[in-house]
Amino acid sequence: MPPIPVPLDRQDPRLEALATEAFCYVENGDWHGVVEDGRLVAIGCWKRLPLGVAGLYSAYVVPEARGRGLHRALIASRCAAARMAGCRLAAVSVQHLNAPCLENYRREGFLPSGEVARVTVPGCATLAKPLGPFAFMEDGACTR
Ligand SMILES: CC(C)(COP(=O)(O)OP(=O)(O)OC[C@H]1O[C@@H](n2cnc3c(N)ncnc32)[C@H](O)[C@@H]1OP(=O)(O)O)[C@@H](O)C(=O)NCCC(=O)NCCS
Repeated sequence: MPPIPVPLDRQDPRLEALATEAFCYVENGDWHGVVEDGRLVAIGCWKRLPLGVAGLYSAYVVPEARGRGLHRALIASRCAAARMAGCRLAAVSVQHLNAPCLENYRREGFLPSGEVARVTVPGCATLAKPLGPFAFMEDGACTR
């Protein structure tokens, strides 16, 4: 069983260092992470977007901790937090070449966004997963 990710303090200095590795720091995002022996080894962020959508960003697992399911655990924990916060759809943009990442989202129930709602980003495979009942809006986003 992979460790359960925990919410992180945005001011945690370990977070800034790892977020730099992930090439993305999301302002006002909620971060989850996995801490082992006091070391932050995996992070992921989510942020509430308009119309009940939760955007997932900045997943990163240190090389020594890869292949143990930490990324999938971070997908699940962020979706659970977003659902608890009232979001109805999770969306993520993944580069087409990032096969492990794409596969993990697929296994966690994400579909190409066009099959769920119209949420697309050029150059990336945008995936989405319903977190609860939602209705389509004219602009393709969702509402409760
Ligand atoms: C992508 C990343 C987050 C994965 O983290 P991880 O903790 O190693 O992922 P997990 O252990 O949860 O899952 C790895 C899975 O990918 C699968 N995988 C590995 N290479 C693969 C490939 N080429 N094609 C398909 N699946 C692949 C593995 O088989 C494993 O599945 P398993 O559970 O059946 O063994 C990590 O490699 C990373 O931080 N990469 C750099 C940053 C990045 O790409 N972030 C993602 C942005 S969306």
